[in-house]
Amino acid sequence: MLATVQSAALRGIEAVPVLVEVNSGESGDPRLIMVGLPDAAVKESDDRVFSALANSGYRKPQTRTTINLAPGDLKKEGPMYDLPIALGILASTGQMGSSGRLERFIIAGELSLSGATRPIRGGLAFALEAKNQGKTGVILPMQSAREAALVSDIEVFGVENLDQAKRFLEGEIELTRFERSSAFDSATEIHQLDFEDVKGQDQARRAVEVAVAGGHNFLIIGPPGSGKSMIAKRIPSIMPQPSLEEYIQILQIQSAAGATKHSRAINMRRPFRSPHHTISDVGLLGGGSIPGPGEISLAHNGVLFMDELPEFKRSALEVMRQPLEDGQVSISRAAGKITLPCNFMLVGAMNPCSCGYLGSKQGECGCSPAQVQRYRSRISGPLLDRIDIHVEAPALSIEELRTGRKGETSETIRTRIEGARKIQQLRYQNGPFTMNANMSESAIDTHCTLTPQLGQILQKAMEALTLSARAYNRILKVARTIADLSESNTIELNHLTEAIQYRSLDRRNRT
Ligand SMILES: Nc1ncnc2c1ncn2[C@@H]1O[C@H](COP(=O)(O)OP(=O)(O)OP(=O)(O)O)[C@@H](O)[C@H]1O
Ligand SMILES: [Mg+2]
Ligand SMILES: [Zn+2]
Repeated sequence: MLATVQSAALRGIEAVPVLVEVNSGESGDPRLIMVGLPDAAVKESDDRVFSALANSGYRKPQTRTTINLAPGDLKKEGPMYDLPIALGILASTGQMGSSGRLERFIIAGELSLSGATRPIRGGLAFALEAKNQGKTGVILPMQSAREAALVSDIEVFGVENLDQAKRFLEGEIELTRFERSSAFDSATEIHQLDFEDVKGQDQARRAVEVAVAGGHNFLIIGPPGSGKSMIAKRIPSIMPQPSLEEYIQILQIQSAAGATKHSRAINMRRPFRSPHHTISDVGLLGGGSIPGPGEISLAHNGVLFMDELPEFKRSALEVMRQPLEDGQVSISRAAGKITLPCNFMLVGAMNPCSCGYLGSKQGECGCSPAQVQRYRSRISGPLLDRIDIHVEAPALSIEELRTGRKGETSETIRTRIEGARKIQQLRYQNGPFTMNANMSESAIDTHCTLTPQLGQILQKAMEALTLSARAYNRILKVARTIADLSESNTIELNHLTEAIQYRSLDRRNRT
């Protein structure tokens, strides 16, 4: 008898439909034949499924059984077809009573030998696909169901084991739906690092605030111990809450990367990723044998922090240029390209030279001008051009560290940032972007107009600093953010001059 179960495959971060067809013949050896481009993990499924069936008190097929995963030209990866295959076998061998519910759900899950379900990658994407297809909902391993519950208008059920799934589908038992509210763990207060710990560094603190307010890429330059890492690590504490829509994108990416498989709670926060400088290009961009998101996509709607920026491989910095501009990254694979979102704020930290002490009062710089030049040139001009804000953080003296007053709290700063973000959201409400940093050229023309006098000032500054056309637009966008922070409709002189100051590396490169 033929039975079919709706499942799905993960392609990048999106789900595509896969139909699991199981046909148990009238006769033949009790053998399982799997067709439809299964990879090794899928092929091993028959061992797991047979053992899971036996240990759940069911019969293995007594005749030749063919399993087809359709469409046949899509590669099926990973162990998530165990549960649909086992259910398909139960239905096709007449061991499932009514199977009317079967077709209303997308079903996926790995099975252990005992028949218990194991979490899978992509639960959230499968739920989105179920909604897309107009299905009633999804049936997933318990651990994967929580994230799926963020999707509205579908029913999400988590199952502990094969038996539970089977009896639910027969209508023999009912299960409690996962609700969106129960997906969140509101009780866990996360202790965050706070900006009040950062003493002095007024300029750097202000620059971070501007950067986060407008979503601008940001680079902080300073000698060892000046607090660069300290400042960068406190950025999550001033980032505004993501909207539900933004958070679903964040979680969908994490889920596709397998990062949510074992997490107990869902905290609705923006990601802050800080990969080590030894990371591979694939680790950064995404890809691999089962193509998944890299760090730049895991940082989507949040921050990618690259500490010691010049230490990253040159190739890594080069391949990031395009994704930084586009907000998405394309990964080539045998079966065609996949595109992943990666709209993140880049935060970089670096020393001014290889010994770290150039221009510092704390130590003597031993680098020759050629060494300084070589160190700087590790970050190419085009990458620097894509960073809207550069700021220098001089080291504080021991005395200043000892006697310095506490800074403003993160909460105070975040309140101002949220105000500026609201202004941007209103301004761009019908556009494809929400932050000044992502303004298109025509949006810059519309929203960053300067008086003729200010236009001349900017032009003079551009000439004096020999800035590129890209830098010109970046200055305008940053000026717009500074104006938003002071709730000004127009860009004024002080907004513009502050924005020009944030091109410090352009300046220093020429001295
Ligand atoms: N402005 C500051 N206020 C308070 N503490 C500071 C400040 N600057 C530095 N410190 C102290 O110095 C430590 C080192 O700072 P941090 O690691 O951020 O320096 P860094 O600039 O990243 O240095 P490196 O170039 O060596 O990575 C901090 O953990 C903190 O204890
Ligand atoms: Mg550091
Ligand atoms: Zn030096």
